[in-house]
Amino acid sequence: MNEKLNIGIILGSTREGRVSPAVGEWVKSIADLRDDANYEIVDIKDYELPLLGEGDSPGIVKWNEKLASLDGFVFIVQEYNHSISASLKNALDLAQEPWNNKAAGIVSYGSTGGARAAEHLRGIMGELMIADVRTHPTLSLFLDFKDGEFAPQELHLENVTMMLDQVNSWGKALKTVR
Ligand SMILES: Cc1cc2nc3c(=O)[nH]c(=O)nc-3n(C[C@H](O)[C@H](O)[C@H](O)COP(=O)(O)O)c2cc1C
Repeated sequence: MNEKLNIGIILGSTREGRVSPAVGEWVKSIADLRDDANYEIVDIKDYELPLLGEGDSPGIVKWNEKLASLDGFVFIVQEYNHSISASLKNALDLAQEPWNNKAAGIVSYGSTGGARAAEHLRGIMGELMIADVRTHPTLSLFLDFKDGEFAPQELHLENVTMMLDQVNSWGKALKTVR
């Protein structure tokens, strides 16, 4: 019971030139200072996932294995047309049980902090039986990026910390029901 949780920081965008790796690394750098869980970046792009229903692929098997090895998630969410990216939705659809009864937090970005995408993700997480925590750092494309480079304001640190506290707490609790 006292074993550290394994928490995946999932990069939601696979777009060429995406900024999600910088955001994910920033969250990981904060998380790694805590020493309360094992945090790793999980990049959807590495799995070369086909669209759901287009056929089997070793990537789908590996994706499910990776998710099964995790106790919780932090989704790095970017807003596309007021929702989550197609690649994240497809990756969510390509697994079922490995998502169930685990905790998750969201770090989103967009012109309005990615709030609309994040709220869509919460609805999807309900169906996948992922317990999404309340605290949700929202990064602004105008205030937290400068000349296309990610430059987060200090004020987000407190929210990231609180979100990680909640993911750990619920992540531990949910381990008991799996
Ligand atoms: C097709 C498309 C639609 C977008 N729609 C939105 C949107 O609805 N709201 C928003 O805040 N940003 C929107 N954006 C801006 C993206 O959030 C921004 O480009 C962000 O950097 C994408 O994340 P990524 O670089 O990690 O892929 C859109 C970008 C694209 C290419």
